[in-house]
Amino acid sequence: MATPLLEARDISKRFGRLQALHHVSIALPRGQTLALVGDNGAGKSTLIKILAGVHQPDSGEIWFEHRRVHLGSPTQARRLGIETVYQDLALVESMSIARNFFLGAEPARRVGPVSVLDTAKMHRTAESYLREIGITSLTTAEKEIRLLSGGERQAISIARAMYFGAKVMILDEPTSQLSIKEARKVLDYIRDVTARGLSTIFITHNLSHVYPVADVIVVLYHGRKVGEFLKGTADPSVIESLIVKGDTEPADRAGGN
Ligand SMILES: Nc1ncnc2c1ncn2[C@@H]1O[C@H](COP(=O)(O)OP(=O)(O)OP(=O)(O)O)[C@@H](O)[C@H]1O
Ligand SMILES: [Mg+2]
Repeated sequence: MATPLLEARDISKRFGRLQALHHVSIALPRGQTLALVGDNGAGKSTLIKILAGVHQPDSGEIWFEHRRVHLGSPTQARRLGIETVYQDLALVESMSIARNFFLGAEPARRVGPVSVLDTAKMHRTAESYLREIGITSLTTAEKEIRLLSGGERQAISIARAMYFGAKVMILDEPTSQLSIKEARKVLDYIRDVTARGLSTIFITHNLSHVYPVADVIVVLYHGRKVGEFLKGTADPSVIESLIVKGDTEPADRAGGN
C-alpha cells in the first residue's frame, strides 16, 4: 500500500466511564477513499472528530504527510488541509450558494477607501467549482440554500472544501438523509474529487454506498477496530456480521444469551 497521507495510530478516547475508542489505527492513502462503518455508537464520529481537531485523543498519535501532528482545534486541522463536512453541514439557510461557499473567507474588493464584498467573484467562482465537480443542477450561485436538496447542499460543502485546498475531506454520513438518487449523486461527487487527488474518509450506515466508492473499508465495533478490507476483498456478509456483533462466528449457535 502507498505511504498513507493521514494516519491515526493507536488512538484511545474515553468519555467519562465510556471507552469510545480503544487502540484504533487507520491509514488513509493519498487519493483514496476510506469508508468507516459500524453500528450506532461504534465510535465512528468520535474518530473523525479527533482527525478534525474537535476532540483530543487520550492516547495515540496522528500522522499527516509523514509528520506527527497535533490537531488541537478544527482550525489547526483545516490549516493542514483536513476539511470536515458534517451531516448538519452548518450552511446558512437564508444566504445564497455563493455566500455559503465563501462563508468566513469572503473575497473583498476595494471601492475607493472601502472594502466591499466581491459578489461577482463569489458567484463566478462558486458556479465554476460546482460545474467542475459535475454539479449541473445548480446553474446559479444566487439561489438560497433553503431551496436546495440535501444532495445539493452536500455538493456545495464538497466543492468548497476543494476550492479551499483541502487534501483530506472527511464526511460524516453524507448520504444518510438523501433519496436514493441524491445519494448516488453525492457518491459520484466523492468519486470525482478523489479522482482529482483528494483523499476522503466517509462514514455511512448504508453498505451499498460503501462498495462502489471505498478503496479501504474499516469496521468499528464498540470502539474497537474489528475489520479492515481493501476494495474487492470485502465479503458483504462478513462485513455485516462484523458490524452487528464484532466477529464472524455463526450467529445461530445453540443457546445464545
Ligand atoms: N461528547 C461526548 N460525550 C460523551 N459521550 C460521547 C460523546 N460523543 C460520543 N459519545 C459516546 O461515545 C460513543 C461513540 O459515539 P460516536 O458518536 O462516535 O458513535 P458513532 O459510531 O458515530 O454512532 P452513530 O452511527 O450513531 O453516529 C457513544 O456511546 C456516544 O454516546
Ligand atoms: Mg456518528
